[in-house]
Amino acid sequence: MKGVILAGGLATRLRPLTWVTNKHLLPIYNKPMIFFPLEAMARAGIKDVLVTSSSDHAEHFETLLKSGEDFGLQLYYAIQKNPKGGISDAISLARDFANNERILVILGDNIFQFDLRDAANRFEKREKGAMIFGMKMPTISSQYGVIEMDKTGKVLSIEEKPDHPKSNIVQTGIYMYDERVFSCIDQLAPSVRGELEVTDLNNTYVAEGTMMCEIIDWWVDAGTSFDELLRANNLVAEKVRKGELS
Ligand code: G1P
Repeated sequence: MKGVILAGGLATRLRPLTWVTNKHLLPIYNKPMIFFPLEAMARAGIKDVLVTSSSDHAEHFETLLKSGEDFGLQLYYAIQKNPKGGISDAISLARDFANNERILVILGDNIFQFDLRDAANRFEKREKGAMIFGMKMPTISSQYGVIEMDKTGKVLSIEEKPDHPKSNIVQTGIYMYDERVFSCIDQLAPSVRGELEVTDLNNTYVAEGTMMCEIIDWWVDAGTSFDELLRANNLVAEKVRKGELS
């Protein structure tokens, strides 16, 4: 399986921090945000990772990450020409890179420690389909996709930023797809906000009955707001002090 980390977008919710600096290079306590998904890729046993960003920031990632040797990864870079194209549009940049292998996609602002290796191995053994990772939250913010699943982990529905959530399980930015993902993206139409949505992509697998979900322990989408960025910093600082994270 190959890895794709999405580090583009305009990050309007974090301006003025992101007028000049790419969101995924902002600090999370003792390291740049993008180190978290990179380390997650390495833990999952992935070797080749494509980092997608915009043309004005690609060089910053290359300067910081080089070819990935510090992480035990081989990194590749791609430019998303339209930063408002949406997550599925950014995933489509990995078409040639994936070369008919399955992909693990992680949004560059997702902070978590969960080890994806077992899930990746299980996913590789499945004949076809996709996999998402959910996080149980006491109250659901309207910033997220919400997952409805049965006891076996089969996903019944995913709603993007619903007013009336059907469950307390938030869709994180961690996704595994089979080889058909790019032809699924080709069938998508832009949403009302003009983006090719990841939830629409995921719902094509839900409709087929091949989308599974696993629940992870802790996770912060550090790009949602100043408060979530601060919460990610505080949480990571606490875990570093306790020796649970380096
Ligand atoms: C995206 C997805 C959403 C998911 C979130 C997690 O939202 O569309 O379903 O819950 O990532 O990070 P965005 O942050 O792009 O608005």
